[in-house]
Amino acid sequence: MEIKVRTGQLHTEDRPLIVVSLFEGAAECSGATDMVDKALHGQIRRLMREGDITGQARETALIYTAESIPALRVLVVGLGKEESFGLEAIRIASATAAQRVRELKLRSFGSMIHGAGWNDLPLEDAAQAVVEGAELALYQFRELKSSAEDDPKPVVSLALVVPDAHQVAAAQEGAAIGQHIAAAANLARDLVNRPSNHATPAALARHAQAMAGEPGMTCTVLDEAEMAALGMGSLLGVAQGSDEPAKFIILEYNAGREHMDTLALVGKGITFDSGGISLKAAQKMQGCKGDMAGAAAVLEAMRVAARLQLPLHIVGLIPSTENMPSGKACKPGDVVRAMNGKTIEVVNTDAEGRLILADALAYALRYRPQAIIDLATLTNAIAVALGHQAAGLFSNDDDLAARLDAAGRTSHERVWRLPLFEEYRRQLKSDVADLKNCGSEPAGAITAAVFLQQFVDDLPWAHLDIAGRAFASTDEDEPFTPYSPSMATGFGVRLLVQFLRDWVNSPPHRHATKRW
Ligand code: BES
Ligand code: ZN
Ligand code: ZN
Repeated sequence: MEIKVRTGQLHTEDRPLIVVSLFEGAAECSGATDMVDKALHGQIRRLMREGDITGQARETALIYTAESIPALRVLVVGLGKEESFGLEAIRIASATAAQRVRELKLRSFGSMIHGAGWNDLPLEDAAQAVVEGAELALYQFRELKSSAEDDPKPVVSLALVVPDAHQVAAAQEGAAIGQHIAAAANLARDLVNRPSNHATPAALARHAQAMAGEPGMTCTVLDEAEMAALGMGSLLGVAQGSDEPAKFIILEYNAGREHMDTLALVGKGITFDSGGISLKAAQKMQGCKGDMAGAAAVLEAMRVAARLQLPLHIVGLIPSTENMPSGKACKPGDVVRAMNGKTIEVVNTDAEGRLILADALAYALRYRPQAIIDLATLTNAIAVALGHQAAGLFSNDDDLAARLDAAGRTSHERVWRLPLFEEYRRQLKSDVADLKNCGSEPAGAITAAVFLQQFVDDLPWAHLDIAGRAFASTDEDEPFTPYSPSMATGFGVRLLVQFLRDWVNSPPHRHATKRW
């Protein structure tokens, strides 16, 4: 969608529709909504008094203007209660409006920047949220549909109107950031929604290689022989049952630049998780094409980092393979050796994510990063614990955990921390190897994280289990935000970008280098 920021009065905007907004229970209209209401001779106020417009979140009222202003339609969208107002309410209002515009089959609309001028909310952030809400809400996965039937015409143009010329720069800046972020999140959704016969490990590698066109980005892809030479026996153990060759993707941004913090981002890239020899039941196999949502988030967040030219050295590591049963496949009880030399008894081949991440985390240590963050659709257990509202956060570093928590609140891709108590390690004791890949049933998400911890030494590390957040529930009782239509959510892109931007704005206090 083309997004323009303009100075002027919204009610003079010549578009098929303009969007204004108000708080729930507001006695009066204010700002741009007030100006539009006056131009409409008090029509919005009349409808408020009648109770047609209440300002509830997700409420819309369509008013036909009968030529009192250039726009034929005014859409009034609710912002919800002022007490709970913030960036998320802006995203939801903007998403609701954009979807209504699409339903009306309109190609273009104008809008105020919801929340502009409210308390000390920066205009830049409000503009970013408006753009994110609209762009994310209009996402559709249509690339494999051969007919244009039922294809709503895309909304192609949005004008954001600000009253003062001196506001344009901030609004433009925020809108541009919002566009980069939303476009990347939508590309991550494409990767996750794309079926496994299209999105193979090789296809994922090509996607990453194409990203090397972004400024500062380089990409290296290791094949199975190169992984074997590095001793990645844990990853190769998962890959050996599949006919699709595995790939280890290394996407690097600002490689070799001095005086920049190094952050390693690791994403689980299982392009299809059948469970392997520990085969999943048929119903549980649905959606397993999306077991690379962590990889998609890492790759696309890095695209945004490059577009925003963040002064960071970022290493994206994606171990990618299918998890398939075959005569060559890893069998329960087999023992593999990871790159750090640890031996692992594979008691369940469906706990494959942690096996491929083990080698990727061990590889990440080579860069001596200031922080390692991995994202993975790792366990069903995390969805049992947190449902679809938050990703599980596990970390050996309180500062890193706090940063991810803060970024989650700002982006509304929220995380919730769970413990890594030493005692959980007992559940992973093996009779034959250094550890086994899964333990007894309780605390399944935690024992998975404890397993990963065995591969990061003592470097600051955080693991995000996104299995409950990567896919939008289609359950009617559990509606998702309007800006996350069904299937892939693109979770992680907005969270990571916020985390990286915050890191740049306030890097952690640096401790004096230890001398030995
Ligand atoms: N990729 C799955 C977890 C998953 C399931 C993510 C459904 C998203 C939707 C993972 O590889 C897996 O199979 N985990 C097992 C682990 C168990 C065998 C210890 C699980 O959670 O059941
Ligand atoms: Zn699995
Ligand atoms: Zn999996």
